[in-house]
Order: sequence, then C-alpha cells, then structure tokens
Amino acid sequence: MGKVIAIANQKGGVGKTTTAVNLAASMAATKRKVLLIDLDPQGNATMGSGVDKYAVPASAYELLVEEKPFAEVVVKETAGGYHLVAANSDVTAAEVRLLNVFARELRLRNALKDARQHYDFIFIDCPPALNMLTVNAMAAADSVLVPMQCEYYALEGLTALMDTINQLTSVVNADLKIEGILRTMYDPRNRLANDVSEQLKQHFGDKVYRAVIPRNVRLAEAPSFGTPVMYYDKGSTGAKAYLALAGEILRRADKKTVKTSTPA
Ligand SMILES: Nc1ncnc2c1ncn2[C@@H]1O[C@H](COP(=O)(O)OP(=O)(O)OP(=O)(O)O)[C@@H](O)[C@H]1O
Ligand SMILES: [Mg+2]
Repeated sequence: MGKVIAIANQKGGVGKTTTAVNLAASMAATKRKVLLIDLDPQGNATMGSGVDKYAVPASAYELLVEEKPFAEVVVKETAGGYHLVAANSDVTAAEVRLLNVFARELRLRNALKDARQHYDFIFIDCPPALNMLTVNAMAAADSVLVPMQCEYYALEGLTALMDTINQLTSVVNADLKIEGILRTMYDPRNRLANDVSEQLKQHFGDKVYRAVIPRNVRLAEAPSFGTPVMYYDKGSTGAKAYLALAGEILRRADKKTVKTSTPA
C-alpha cells in the first residue's frame, strides 16, 4: 500500500512545488512507483512535470468535484517518470464547489482508495493556504512533509501549521503524522539561517531532515524547461540534494518497517 505524503506550508514560495516535483522524480529514479497530485490551482507542479496545464483533459477538479474515476484523470506521461493528477485554474472552483458538499474533506481520500495500491509513494503538492484543498490533502495523507526557509518568522508560521495539523488530526485524520521538516533554499553562510536551523533542531529533533536543500539556480531554472532538475542538470547541488532526501525518506521508512515487524 502506497504511502501518501502531503507537502504543505501555508506560507507562499517556500519550496513546496520544487520539493514535490524533484522528490517525486528522485523516488521514481529509484524504481519506486510514484504519483504526484497537484492540488494548487497555479498548476506549477503540473508545468514543472512537463505537462501542459491548459491541455490536460481532466484535473484534480474532476477528481474532487465530479468524482470522475482516478483512471480517467491520471496523466501517465511526465518528464519525471511518475504519474500525475494535474491542476489548473479549474481547481479554484473545486474549493468553492466543495463548500456545501457532504463529507467534503474526504473527497481526495476516497478518490485514492483504490489507486493507493498501485503506488509506492503518493505526493500531494498543496496550495499556500490552509483551505479546503489543503484539508483534503491532509485528510488523505499518512503524513505531512513541511518545507521551510530558515528565516526570522519561519518558526511562527511553523507553529501555526502544527496547530492546524493537530486540530485536523482530531477531526478528519487521527493517524496523520509529521513526516519531516525540510530546510529549503539554504545558505550556510547566512548566520540567521544557521540560528533558525539550530532552533528547529532543538524544537523538532530528528523530525528535521539531515538532507538540506541549498539555494541553487538550477532548481529555479528547470521548471521553465518542463523538467525536474535531475534531467536538466544531474550534477547540480539541487539534484543531489533531492536524491539525498529521497534516500533519507526510504531509509526512515525501512527502519520503521523493521521495528514494527520485530516480534515483541
Ligand atoms: N532551493 C532553491 N534554490 C533556488 N531557487 C529555488 C529553490 N527552491 C525553490 N526555488 C524557487 O523559488 C520559487 C518558489 O519555489 P516554489 O514554487 O517551489 O515554492 P512554493 O512553496 O511551491 O510556492 P507557492 O506557495 O506559490 O506554491 C520558485 O521560483 C522556485 O523556482
Ligand atoms: Mg507551489
């Protein structure tokens, strides 16, 4: 059964989409079966996967609002070797249309029920808001991966996000875990970044990934070529960092499996 990981932070521009696309591609490169769900009407993860958001026959809107079967919505050809549920401006309407619907928080969870078994990992790229789309992602997910920039106000934003996650776990998803906290656009020469990074480790311990994503212009350039960075500049520090993150997530998952399968 695939693991569903929501990539979320209500703060804009912290590297959610860059992480979603490049982590999905890195996992796919390790021969895992991967699905990426773009839940952001901006459709950046869709375009960054080499898929034209204006040309897709269906998007997350059809999956969530019209309850079209997953098989009719999934795009199987992407530049990153994973499958994709696309997003475009239609998905904005999904937010509004879901407001008056029964069990509206569970639409994505239900839509993935059968699809889950076909994948090893399902990543969800969330919009920069704690709205009904993000709630759907968190209700469907096993865990949340939080990308963050090590800036002055980052810890406050993180506290707000953790509060929301705690509230959601009591209402829509009691099993939701924190997958990990990822430091993005990191510049080790910046003293403030180092301070915030230290505070993060003090607060969240080993929830903070060892893998750190450096500021790397290749990561910013790759989307304009419609490709994950590893197929644009394989040797770049950005490509290597996301491969390292994928490795770390796999090792953590292995450890847990070993632990739970050991007889008491
Ligand atoms: N490690 C990095 N180094 C350099 N540029 C980066 C890095 N990560 C992301 N960027 C750039 O920063 C911008 C914001 O990144 P991204 O779109 O991934 O953030 P986001 O959290 O998904 O944004 P939004 O909240 O709007 O969805 C983009 O232009 C992206 O190319
Ligand atoms: Mg984004």
